[in-house]
Amino acid sequence: MDGDIAPLKEIVDLLDAYGAHLIVDEAHATGVFGQNGRGLVNEMGLENRVFARLHTFSKALASNGAALVGPKILKEYLINYARPLIYSTFTSFNNLASVKSAYEMLIAGETTELVEKVHGLIHYFRSNINVPDHMLLPSTSPIQGIVMDGNAKVNALSQRLIQAGLNVKPIRFPTVPKGKERVRICLHSHNTQEQVQQLIEIVQTWFRENGIELLENNLYNSNSSNSTESIQDSRASHSNATKVSVPVTLQVVPIEDVAEVSRSSTPASALSVSALSAISQQPTRAKL
Ligand SMILES: Cc1ncc(COP(=O)(O)O)c(C=O)c1O
Repeated sequence: MDGDIAPLKEIVDLLDAYGAHLIVDEAHATGVFGQNGRGLVNEMGLENRVFARLHTFSKALASNGAALVGPKILKEYLINYARPLIYSTFTSFNNLASVKSAYEMLIAGETTELVEKVHGLIHYFRSNINVPDHMLLPSTSPIQGIVMDGNAKVNALSQRLIQAGLNVKPIRFPTVPKGKERVRICLHSHNTQEQVQQLIEIVQTWFRENGIELLENNLYNSNSSNSTESIQDSRASHSNATKVSVPVTLQVVPIEDVAEVSRSSTPASALSVSALSAISQQPTRAKL
């Protein structure tokens, strides 16, 4: 929701101490973080310490569905007990083709430039917006948020942005706690720096009109800000983690196999393709 990043290393250390397992939802990290978009667990080099990872196809991959990456016992459990899997229609062929195309782009490194661009826009946004520290969510991801007090304020700012052609939505109480309402900004690789600058100017103009004080220096420029340090630390740890070489194999099911699965009436084989073969440390081919 907030684009913030879970302290996964600390979490897995804690879980080890209690013999517990971790499932990581990589919905917003897939395609954006990690080597060739493998996600945050990959970026942090924690593949062998996380029980399962959920990679949705609905965000950066612009499709539908998801792959759940985990041990064989999890696959068997889901095949036998996950009612929505057993009793729902399998995803369409054209959706699988779209997912396959996205994976091909990821594997070929064709998304690297887009990922770099979106991270550049994130940096530009955070470096240039002068809203007070406590009102800007501490996020280094494409999701950015400006927190305000009350539904009326977030509705009004969002309306102003929408009128200017920027699709920024309010997140209101009761979705978030009272007093923590926010406008939620999703930066995309197709956005331009001019659009981000326009966004900043509209937000800052609206702040001035409504008597909300702006900072003289933004978060990145202010040496005294604690949250600045944590943001920079977090980015630094990301780029260090990216250098960790982890033997993860991306495997895409050949399109003819996908077609075969689409015709199959066995949801279990659908799962084994879409959920366990798409990305796996030990790729599993579907038994069709
Ligand atoms: C963190 C997170 N996990 C999972 C999902 C679900 O993804 P999907 O829309 O593909 O079901 C979302 C959707 O917004 C999400 O934000």
